Amino acid sequence: MKRVAILVSGGGSNMVALARSMEGDHPARPVLVLSNDPAAKGLERAAAMGIPVAAVDHRPFKGDRAAFEAALMEPLLAAEPDVICLAGFMRILTPGFTGRFAGRMLNIHPSLLPKYPGLHTHQRALDAGDTEAGCTVHEVTEVLDDGPILGQARVPVLPGDDADTLAARVLVQEHVLYPAVLRRYVSGDRTPVSL
Ligand code: GAR
Repeated sequence: MKRVAILVSGGGSNMVALARSMEGDHPARPVLVLSNDPAAKGLERAAAMGIPVAAVDHRPFKGDRAAFEAALMEPLLAAEPDVICLAGFMRILTPGFTGRFAGRMLNIHPSLLPKYPGLHTHQRALDAGDTEAGCTVHEVTEVLDDGPILGQARVPVLPGDDADTLAARVLVQEHVLYPAVLRRYVSGDRTPVSL
């Protein structure tokens, strides 16, 4: 059985989708939900699902990313994960951290990468007049929102959309895409998923 740790910063809806998928004949189980925000709603939701949780508040580190990451590494290594899923984890990670978990860390990003790495993806898609939007799951490398693409899901941009309506439509697909990619990935299959 593969061990999966999930990193969240907020509501954790992708974490819930991933955790719910890991049951029955699924070859993985969630072993830790970890956050940089002790108040993250995702921690509460994970605990309610019986998943071990931990938090390392990034704020006392006052921008010392290396020290924050060293602290974050402790509960993470203790959980002995085979795979780490970033699921709405909103801290930029340094090469020291991403390198430590190269080849076993995934991220979901709310755009059709390589379009719109970084923030405000939905507004940027609308501003560009895109007729479709979506989300991407990729392997994490030291470059932000880069790395081999493991799956993408597409949705139409509809007349009258604003960033919120578009984000909501994409999020529904995130909850389908991420579990589909994870299942393949833990089975050793890196063929991209296309939805
Ligand atoms: C999701 O839309 C995810 O793709 C995005 O944050 C949201 C988290 O929602 N991630 C990023 O923007 C990463 N840069 P959730 O906490 O409900 O899963």
